[in-house]
Amino acid sequence: MRIRFKKWARPEIAASQICMDDSKAMRGKWRTDANFARPEQPFFVELGCGKGGWISQAALQHPENNYLALDIKSEMLGMANRKVLAAFERAGKAPDNVRLSIINIEHISEVLCPQDGVDRIYINFCNPWPKESHKKRRLTHPRQLGQYASVLRGELHFKTDDPDLFNESIVYFEESGWSILTKTFDLHADEPADNIRTEHENMFTEMGKKIHFLIAAPPAGAFGKPAPSFDDELREQRRLKAEAAETD
Ligand SMILES: C[S@@+](CC[C@H](N)C(=O)[O-])C[C@H]1O[C@@H](n2cnc3c(N)ncnc32)[C@H](O)[C@@H]1O
Repeated sequence: MRIRFKKWARPEIAASQICMDDSKAMRGKWRTDANFARPEQPFFVELGCGKGGWISQAALQHPENNYLALDIKSEMLGMANRKVLAAFERAGKAPDNVRLSIINIEHISEVLCPQDGVDRIYINFCNPWPKESHKKRRLTHPRQLGQYASVLRGELHFKTDDPDLFNESIVYFEESGWSILTKTFDLHADEPADNIRTEHENMFTEMGKKIHFLIAAPPAGAFGKPAPSFDDELREQRRLKAEAAETD
């Protein structure tokens, strides 16, 4: 979806008490330096928060958790900032358990490390990138899962309307050693009372599409280990190819 340029977004993000403008400087310090009112609380991260429909409700409904919502686009983060601030103001509460930041999640290891101890990751309706040559940009691609596993102590929750993305993501999780704990192809058939609908979830539901949902846990022992870099992956693939060529 093409989002119109919003002149107000960057200045509002820069002025907002809940937006962190240097997310790389926060690496390893989210729990201590993000000024959460209760830093000892579980730390949940939403990847690709869009206009902030989900994060504004989740953070307000769950003051017992701290939340960080990330997006690559300032227009999106600007809208999420407005939505979160408005929701907390309406409720007469301080937004002291929620932070927003602009990053490219493909490089999430530059922003999060094991010291940040992420308790849960949410991926809500990430871009499906259907073309074969673009699939590595998917937020559920194995090269992403390696980065998440290194910082994640708990579970990853994933929702999408896209059956191909969902089915291929199941393979990504399994091949990367993750365990699928829960899986449904129709979340709304028996919608959990605590499900928080996102903007895209509402839109796709109105279009008659089914919502797919899973919960996955990272491989045992992966937490705290450095995420494999893309260069390492490439080297390993070349080594295996060379080995296979030698034995032919
Ligand atoms: C289809 S929208 C979904 C928004 C929201 N989660 C929802 O369910 O309504 C995908 C969002 O992910 C963001 N996004 C896509 N690729 C990203 C990346 N590599 N890093 C950070 N954000 C990304 C986009 O800017 C967009 O806001």
